[in-house]
Amino acid sequence: MLDLKHELKLDKTRDEKARMNFVSGLRAHVLNDMAGGMRAVWDAEVEPAFRRSRGRRPKDGPEVHAALKPNECFKFYSSLRVTTQDLVWQSVFPALERNRGALKEKAARLSRSSQSRSSKVRGTLALRPDFKVPRSVSALDVHLMAGNYDGEYEEGDLAAGSLYDNGLAVFSFGLMGQNLDDIGQSIAGFIKLKFPQLKPAKILDLGCTIGHNTGSWKDHFPAAEVHGIDVAAPCLRYAHARAQAQDRELHFHQMDAESLDFPDASFDVVFSSMFLHEVPRKGIERILAEAHRVLKPGGLMLHMELPPNSQLSPYDAFYLDWDGAYNNEPFYKPFRDLKPEDICRRAGFAPEKYLQFVIPSVGWYGEKVWREAAERPPSVDSDKTGRLTDGILWYCFGAFK
Ligand SMILES: C[S@@+](CC[C@H](N)C(=O)[O-])C[C@H]1O[C@@H](n2cnc3c(N)ncnc32)[C@H](O)[C@@H]1O
Repeated sequence: MLDLKHELKLDKTRDEKARMNFVSGLRAHVLNDMAGGMRAVWDAEVEPAFRRSRGRRPKDGPEVHAALKPNECFKFYSSLRVTTQDLVWQSVFPALERNRGALKEKAARLSRSSQSRSSKVRGTLALRPDFKVPRSVSALDVHLMAGNYDGEYEEGDLAAGSLYDNGLAVFSFGLMGQNLDDIGQSIAGFIKLKFPQLKPAKILDLGCTIGHNTGSWKDHFPAAEVHGIDVAAPCLRYAHARAQAQDRELHFHQMDAESLDFPDASFDVVFSSMFLHEVPRKGIERILAEAHRVLKPGGLMLHMELPPNSQLSPYDAFYLDWDGAYNNEPFYKPFRDLKPEDICRRAGFAPEKYLQFVIPSVGWYGEKVWREAAERPPSVDSDKTGRLTDGILWYCFGAFK
């Protein structure tokens, strides 16, 4: 398990570290080795049996799922994957409980630093006491994360942010990089190389959680003013302190992406990562319409997401939709069943301005493969696109306004 390097990191005992390492290692085993084993069983036994009985190949993910459900290998994989998902959060709780007070103090100090005249990094945090968190967040423990992003149990609580930061480190077994920002670093760096004429003055990250991927835009476009919005106050408090600890000037706001408080045509880039699949279908359409509204003409909207089912083989579609069935992700499959080019068009983007990319992880492959990816884009339909596994490729879609 990778150890976070910033000042808000939890002080852990040897046992706590060992437990987190164990869960991380077990997840890597399930998602690499056991997933590979399940695929081999599919190819050698279950798919041929399907063809014999039905006289054809499975046509989509749900047919693959139904055929695999009675299989022992699928059951063992799924049971262990659900257990490790639960253990991700359980492994963080003891250290988080012990560090609660210290965490609040550190965050308060870091937050004060943003207001000091001498500070070179003057990020901001704008929370709204009257803000109503949408039920799609407040009524759910998404991906089994107890309390979800918005759970608050004392004044100024930021534990949910710390739970997410530390949980993501365990969950991603090193694939997200030392700062958990491989998505942001890969995508912001690739966009800078692909569109050298793009000189954004203002960038917006929707559903930014703890701002781990928001900061990458500041790294690659240091002259830009970078904003992140989210509905969850505890995550935003943590995001603000985390950015200050890392000397990144970022501006966080509590806001609903479905109705942004920003004027028309005020941003050059509107970005999101791993966000839309946690939003109900109608909300997705409203969010894209809002992105269109706040973008300047010529601006770029870009969403890093799970690849759509329409562009994957039935097996890979089944594999990614596993979370929709077993990981408390009710909006996951409805999102993946949408065609990104259709939702962009419905939001007001011209069809000829639609674009999508498969961007190799910078942490895994290094920057040198971006040039190749820009010239000869990798296929979306691969067992590495959007899949938390060694050699991950990030999928993105969007459009210029
Ligand atoms: C999976 S997390 C996003 C992760 C993050 N962007 C990343 O790069 O890893 C989803 C986030 O969206 C936020 N969210 C959900 N609905 C929202 C909405 N309507 N407006 C703004 N944020 C929302 C949640 O509070 C949560 O922090």
